[in-house]
Amino acid sequence: MHEADQHDAWSAGRSYDEYMGRWSGAVAGAFLEWLDLPAGLDWLDVGCGTGALSAAVIERCAPDSLIGIDPSDGFVRHAAGIVTDPRARFEVGTAEHLPAAGDTVDVVTSALAYNFVPDRIAALREFRRVTRPGGTVSFYVWDYPGGGVGFIDAFWKAAAALDAAAGGLDEAVRFPFCTAGSLEDEVESAGYSDVEVVALEVPTRFADFEAFWHPFTLGAGPAPGYLASLSTDAGERLRRLLRDQLGGGVVELTARAWAVRAPA
Ligand SMILES: C[S@@+](CC[C@H](N)C(=O)[O-])C[C@H]1O[C@@H](n2cnc3c(N)ncnc32)[C@H](O)[C@@H]1O
Repeated sequence: MHEADQHDAWSAGRSYDEYMGRWSGAVAGAFLEWLDLPAGLDWLDVGCGTGALSAAVIERCAPDSLIGIDPSDGFVRHAAGIVTDPRARFEVGTAEHLPAAGDTVDVVTSALAYNFVPDRIAALREFRRVTRPGGTVSFYVWDYPGGGVGFIDAFWKAAAALDAAAGGLDEAVRFPFCTAGSLEDEVESAGYSDVEVVALEVPTRFADFEAFWHPFTLGAGPAPGYLASLSTDAGERLRRLLRDQLGGGVVELTARAWAVRAPA
């Protein structure tokens, strides 16, 4: 595991949902509206996590079937407990070695996971392998380099002000390819054409500073994993700095994702 990956704690479903799953769910609706795909398709949700996008597909897209895959056994079990529709099933697996035969789904999709896949080009090739001719490959990732995820950006900027080592853990530094241009180039380099990339933005509102801070204390995800690695004193210094910067009242920020689609 690389130095920067060690805080990517993906396992505790409820903690993850409070930190990130709810915002992914908020983007999912806009994303599926943009994809605008017909009913009756077979879907594969790669890096499904706790099932934010899977649940939205079941709710909005009238699929024939949906398979969610994720390397985290804890997330897969959590998703299966939440998305109980009989058309959906969840399995442990990775994007680079999808547990699906060739030409068996109509839509490969993925939410906020593509950037965490160690071999993204291998994943893009797998997406195409399992998708039937005429199908769609799609995903969304946060706009980390553009500072597009306000609450994560605020966290890492404050963390780096107190701890130089935190600078290298910031997703903006780890995932510089999460820009519209780089994503388009990368997907094309895996052999796709007619790649489309659009920005999708959702409001992220926290009732007060504690509502903003609490999800970071739950341990699920890179920033919460980093916070968990700090001493109590260092964590408290970070909390106070953010509290000074954001104030104690309502914290209103936005989160911007890049949505990508291409014919398989
Ligand atoms: C930020 S979470 C997104 C989860 C969910 N899709 C959502 O939108 O809430 C990132 C997910 O990527 C998964 N992941 C990490 N490496 C992966 C890989 N090689 N293949 C597929 N998924 C991976 C993690 O287990 C985690 O569930």
